[in-house]
Amino acid sequence: MEIGAVLDHLHLSSPDPQAVANFYAAHYGMQTEPAGAAQLLRGPGRKLAISEGPANRLKYAAWRFDEVGALARFRSRVPTRSQVALPPFDWFDPQAFAVADPDGNVTVFTAGPASAVPATAAVPPAVGQHFALRTSDPARLLAFYRDELGFTLSDRVEDPQGVLRACFLRTDHLHHALALFGAPAARFDHQSFETPSWQDLRTPMAWGVGRHGPGNDVFFMVLDPDGNLAEISAEIEVCAPERAVGLWPHEERTLNLWGRAIMRS
Ligand SMILES: [Fe+2]
Repeated sequence: MEIGAVLDHLHLSSPDPQAVANFYAAHYGMQTEPAGAAQLLRGPGRKLAISEGPANRLKYAAWRFDEVGALARFRSRVPTRSQVALPPFDWFDPQAFAVADPDGNVTVFTAGPASAVPATAAVPPAVGQHFALRTSDPARLLAFYRDELGFTLSDRVEDPQGVLRACFLRTDHLHHALALFGAPAARFDHQSFETPSWQDLRTPMAWGVGRHGPGNDVFFMVLDPDGNLAEISAEIEVCAPERAVGLWPHEERTLNLWGRAIMRS
């Protein structure tokens, strides 16, 4: 049985918090509120805190239970040896508590409603859903999150020697809310915001992700301010000098082997 908490927000540190806040405001449609030593950014379904500190570091990850009773029941199952001081921010529930994993990443468990910023056509919803950490010892971190905190292991990735190289853990019905990747050094890796459907993922894109038939390149396209298509692509075919001329039928699948195409004629 999953613990039932969902990711509420991450708090990242940065040597230039304003630049990072500006990035998320511009690209993730979030509004910035100064909040003491931190900046709190909110968008429809998503929240992020940023404050001064080293790059690529998590100050904490905050998980949220719907109600305080569930938080209290969960806390009673977490060994007190893992518990540390709650980070000094006033947006947690009074019953919130914090733990630290073996790499020193702090996890806060709190309770309350989700961020209620309304979605608009210009700023669509996307919920902060999972994040990933790099660690030099994935097995040690897996043991912490699974055995001390009760996260549920969904998948493990092993090398040919059977050594755990990555794993994916969940806290509710969604496949992973936390991913752990083996790497030379511990650091924050990424966070992900889940849109209601993959069609929403495509909204900022004019076309793609797809794979062209001619050229076999994977691509997506956005529109520049003048409406020109601007493409980003990868894996284009490498041609030998004597390559025969190819012939493709004029149909959508030729321009996109994976689905819809922009047919210019
Ligand atoms: Fe991810």
